Amino acid sequence: MSGQLRAVVVGCGNIGPVHADAVAKSAHAALYGVCDILPERADALAGKYGCRAFYALADVLSDENVDVVHICTPHYLHDTQAVACAQAGKHLVVEKPFALNLARAQAAAETIAKTGVSVCAVLQNRYTPCVVKAKELIDSGRYGRVLGGKGALTWQRTPAYYASADWRGKWATEGGGLVINQAVHLLDLLEYLGGRCEAITATMANRTLSGVIEVEDTAEATLYGKDGVLLHFFATNGYCANVPFDLEIQLEHAALRYTWDALYVIQDGHLTEVARNSAEVPGKPYWGGGHFVLLDGFYGALAGEGGSYTGLSEGLDGVRLVDGLYASARTGKQVPLEEWIFPA
Ligand SMILES: NC(=O)c1ccc[n+]([C@@H]2O[C@H](COP(=O)([O-])OP(=O)(O)OC[C@H]3O[C@@H](n4cnc5c(N)ncnc54)[C@H](O)[C@@H]3O)[C@@H](O)[C@H]2O)c1
Repeated sequence: MSGQLRAVVVGCGNIGPVHADAVAKSAHAALYGVCDILPERADALAGKYGCRAFYALADVLSDENVDVVHICTPHYLHDTQAVACAQAGKHLVVEKPFALNLARAQAAAETIAKTGVSVCAVLQNRYTPCVVKAKELIDSGRYGRVLGGKGALTWQRTPAYYASADWRGKWATEGGGLVINQAVHLLDLLEYLGGRCEAITATMANRTLSGVIEVEDTAEATLYGKDGVLLHFFATNGYCANVPFDLEIQLEHAALRYTWDALYVIQDGHLTEVARNSAEVPGKPYWGGGHFVLLDGFYGALAGEGGSYTGLSEGLDGVRLVDGLYASARTGKQVPLEEWIFPA
């Protein structure tokens, strides 16, 4: 284990095992332990990797052997747990969303920044081969500037999914529904590839899960970028299947189409495949299989060997888009996408 950063994954539900897998595979990291308030979950995952089982975050924080904590718990715990970890001197990996809303995210970021720990805010879809390639093609300027874009996320979340954990489907504990949990990835990709936006107009509804959840299962939005760029967004948890992201960016001399885990360049009506995501990813493939690349990049950077990852800024960006969408949908008006202020 010498030379490797010792990590503990907190929250052993759906996504915790994906983090454990990535840490175990990274040359820069070692899985020191896992933690869950449900002992049977911590014990099962610890048994798989032969690491320690913790049952309370406080015990993780008081263990001097722990360098990095992964927060894979319900949404409403993220910011307070992240602050506690940072104040204990632990580097952080925080699953999305960074917090329930922008005010909380910004307050947590300010406190964390003062501690000097490093933070990876998970937006792993930026690290899939297709998105990496799309970003490279757009930034190269080879096909001219971005004219506009559109994205759709059509997934299925059943009553059984919402019954599987009591924090889901509630404003107080999930912070919303489809938008903050599933579609935050698509919002982030649209802006990452289509360019930073200044305002948003949105609507949301509960079309298929009425009586099951108090939050939205469907939303649509238009994001207003610079120079007249419009990015159109549609997402629902009420589809009959879980389909990978569908996203298109129109450039002056070509269109880029990301669909069914492949990236195509479209020119004169001809589609040319230029990238494809791996079919072999831990967790659900439609989550976007970028966790390992993202986390390995974070650990590489922590080890001083270089590595790219989504950090505090990107975590705040994700919450900024979600906040803007909810504000517009609630008021029925176009609203500015508030800029967060990076902690001094
Ligand atoms: N990036 C992605 O693609 C992706 C995919 C799935 C989930 N997620 C995110 O991961 C997080 C967890 O989601 P999930 O689906 O795994 O939820 P989950 O409910 O399946 O798992 C959460 C786990 O946290 C544990 N827990 C609750 N309070 C705790 C505490 N105080 N200390 C320690 N453990 C505690 C629960 O017992 C549970 O086992 C959410 O933020 C979710 O949005 C991200």
